[in-house]
Amino acid sequence: MCIVGARPNFIKIAPIMAALNGVVPLILVHTGQHYDSTMQELFFQQLGIPKPDINLEVGSASHGLQTGTIMQRFEPIIDEINPSLVLVVGDVNSTIACALVAAKKQIPIAHVEAGLRSFDRSMPEEINRVLTDQISDLLFTTERSAKENLLREGIDEKRIHFVGNVMIDSLQIHRLKAVSPAETLKNLNIEIPLLLKEFDKNYAVLTLHRPANVDNPSVLKDILLLIQNISEQIPIIFPLHPRTSAMLKKNGLLETLGQSSNIICTPPAGYLEMLGLMDKAKLVLTDSGGIQEETTALGVPCITLRDNTERPITVEKGTNTIVGIDPSRVMAAIRNVLTTGGKIGRIPELWDGRAAFRIKEVLLNCL
Ligand code: UD1
Repeated sequence: MCIVGARPNFIKIAPIMAALNGVVPLILVHTGQHYDSTMQELFFQQLGIPKPDINLEVGSASHGLQTGTIMQRFEPIIDEINPSLVLVVGDVNSTIACALVAAKKQIPIAHVEAGLRSFDRSMPEEINRVLTDQISDLLFTTERSAKENLLREGIDEKRIHFVGNVMIDSLQIHRLKAVSPAETLKNLNIEIPLLLKEFDKNYAVLTLHRPANVDNPSVLKDILLLIQNISEQIPIIFPLHPRTSAMLKKNGLLETLGQSSNIICTPPAGYLEMLGLMDKAKLVLTDSGGIQEETTALGVPCITLRDNTERPITVEKGTNTIVGIDPSRVMAAIRNVLTTGGKIGRIPELWDGRAAFRIKEVLLNCL
């Protein structure tokens, strides 16, 4: 039984389900944590994920209520179907909620993307990661540091399998089908500014959705000012996460953003649109986890607007630089990319498009 709930889950589950298709019977449960068509339906279509067998339709709520509702609605499903294994991915509320129900029913759990640690317990995802790993039977890791983290937390080494990164499996499968930035803006009826007639390493992509960056109005205001300063150096394309647009609207900042001629705001981008936007960008600014990995795989410099990362390999080997939101550090990092081209980076070990295949092999042995 495969579980998905939020946008980053869809990108991870697609290659796993493709690898297992026809090999073992699969049931897909969607918790409905993300429900807008741009946040989920479009991803199912573009990534070729089968229609969920069950949708728990939980929608948005506070953390406790959302996690609790998923658990309450998932328990009867587990009772009825009694799967041999529950497979969860990533670190969202749906991940811990379904894993916890399965653990109490003594159903084996596989966690894909185990062992990542930011060591920042103010991040809801960090709590979800630590707890999911503790109750999982099979832990699939994307980088070597993850195993060290798990061993430190007392996880039995025999349960840990270094398989590589399923996000990069998806990226490799779909890169050639990526939608060009010009096409993306055209489809949204957004007028393309003159200086962007050729989208070729002459613009930046920005994504922002971490509660730490967008939920506090004064932090959000400061970041907005910073974005405006950056846009004087390079045009910015900014696909807005629903959480971010809601906070901008609530604080009367959406108009300010709209007035900056060098910042193009768009609705949440589809998977193929986002791949196209990142691939042709000079640099990417983000507070997302997955985008730090995707930019490393694409060889595009990434400036991470957080104080830490749970994905250290993207800094050690990849194109990622952690700068936080201090304006002088961010501007220095931008200048560095604009003058030197930024970090070149290498592809991390086992980020070779075969992670889902390795997961399949381990699962078949265990099942
Ligand atoms: C969730 C994950 C985060 C992941 C992100 C990717 C948790 C704790 N967080 O954060 O790790 O990086 O997904 O997007 O699980 N909303 C909509 N439509 C939707 C979904 C959300 O409008 O389809 C709005 C709602 O106002 C909602 C807010 O976005 O309250 C936040 O959604 P939620 O799923 O709670 O968290 P994310 O910030 O998306």
